[in-house]
Amino acid sequence: MSFSKPLIQWYLQNKRDLPWRNNTHPYPVWLSEIMLQQTRVAQGLPYFLRFINAFPTVNDLANAPEEKVLHLWQGLGYYSRARNLHATAKQVALELGGNFPNSYAGLLKLKGVGEYTAAAVASISYGEAVPVVDGNVYRVLARYFGITTDISSSGAKKEFTALAATLLPDNDPATFNQAIMEFGALQCVPKSPDCVVCIFNTTCVAYNTGRVNELPVKLKKQKVTDRYFNYIVVSDAAGHTLINRRGDKGIWNGLYEFPLLETDTNLTETEVNTLIQSYTGLGFMPETITLINAEPVIHKLSHQKLHIRFWAVSTSKTLPEAVDTQHLKTIPLPIVLHNFAERHWL
Ligand code: ADE
Repeated sequence: MSFSKPLIQWYLQNKRDLPWRNNTHPYPVWLSEIMLQQTRVAQGLPYFLRFINAFPTVNDLANAPEEKVLHLWQGLGYYSRARNLHATAKQVALELGGNFPNSYAGLLKLKGVGEYTAAAVASISYGEAVPVVDGNVYRVLARYFGITTDISSSGAKKEFTALAATLLPDNDPATFNQAIMEFGALQCVPKSPDCVVCIFNTTCVAYNTGRVNELPVKLKKQKVTDRYFNYIVVSDAAGHTLINRRGDKGIWNGLYEFPLLETDTNLTETEVNTLIQSYTGLGFMPETITLINAEPVIHKLSHQKLHIRFWAVSTSKTLPEAVDTQHLKTIPLPIVLHNFAERHWL
C-alpha cells in the first residue's frame, strides 16, 4: 500500500491532540463527528468541550431541555444538527438503555445518523472496517488519484467510497479514517496547499499534472438567495422588548428573534419605516421608529444571504409579553441577534 502506510505514518507524526481522540467511547466520538460536519476543528473544539462538560453522558444530553441544547449550540450554525443530535441522544437513552449500537448497520438505524457519522463511529470506536467519505476525503482522493468525477454528481459518493474501501487497512480502520481526514484538514487543504513539503508530491497525480487547483471537480453551485430582514427592536415603558420563537420551517427553527418584517426586495429606509408604522402584528402603535444600522448587517448562510436592518421602535405602554433584555442571555438566539443584543444590552 503506497498510499495508506505513509498516510498513517504522517498522521502519527502530525495529528492534533484533540480531546475526543483520547477516548474511543462512542459518545464523544459521535458528538465530535456531528459537530465537525460543516465546521472546522478550531471552531468546533470549544463547543465540544462545553457539551461534554454540560452533558457528560448521552443520558444527560437526552434529558436536557431542547432550549439548553440549542443555547449551547449557539453560533455553530446548521441548527438542524443540534436538533437531530438531541433526537439521537433520546433514542439511545430511552430505547437502547444509553448504549450506542455497536456496528455500522446498527448506528445507521438511528434517527439523525447518516453514512458518514455511522462510518466514523463504527471505525473509530469499534474498529469496524468501513470507510468515511467527507469533504476532506473527496479532496485528498480526487487529487492523489487524479479523479475528475464531479463530487456533487449522484454517483460520486459510491465511487469514492469504493476507492476508500480498497485503501482502508482492515487491521486499523480507525487510524486510517482519521488520518485521511486530518491530512485533508492540515496538508491537502482546499486553497493553496503547500505541495512542496507534501509526502505525496512524487506520487500525487494532481500535483504532477499541474491540476491541484482544479481538483476535486464540483460543478453544482447552489444558488444563493438574498433575503431582507427588518428586526423590530421594541422598547416599552419598562425598557422591555418583544421576542418570538421561530417555527419549525426554514432557518433557525426553535431559536428566538425580535418581531420580523421580511421583504422580497431591498426597500428604502422610508418604505420600511412606512411598513412598520402600519404593521399590526406588534399589537400597539409605534411612537418612534428609528433605523439603528444604516448599513445592513450581512449574514451569510450556506444558501442564503441575509441583509439585516434593526429598527428601534418605542411605546409608552407596558407590554405584558415583553421581556427584560437580560433574559436574552439565557435563550438560544441566532448569532447575529446575540451579537446585536450583546452590543446593546448584555
Ligand atoms: N473532520 C471530521 N472528523 C474528523 C476527524 N475525526 N479527524 C480530523 N478531521 C475531522
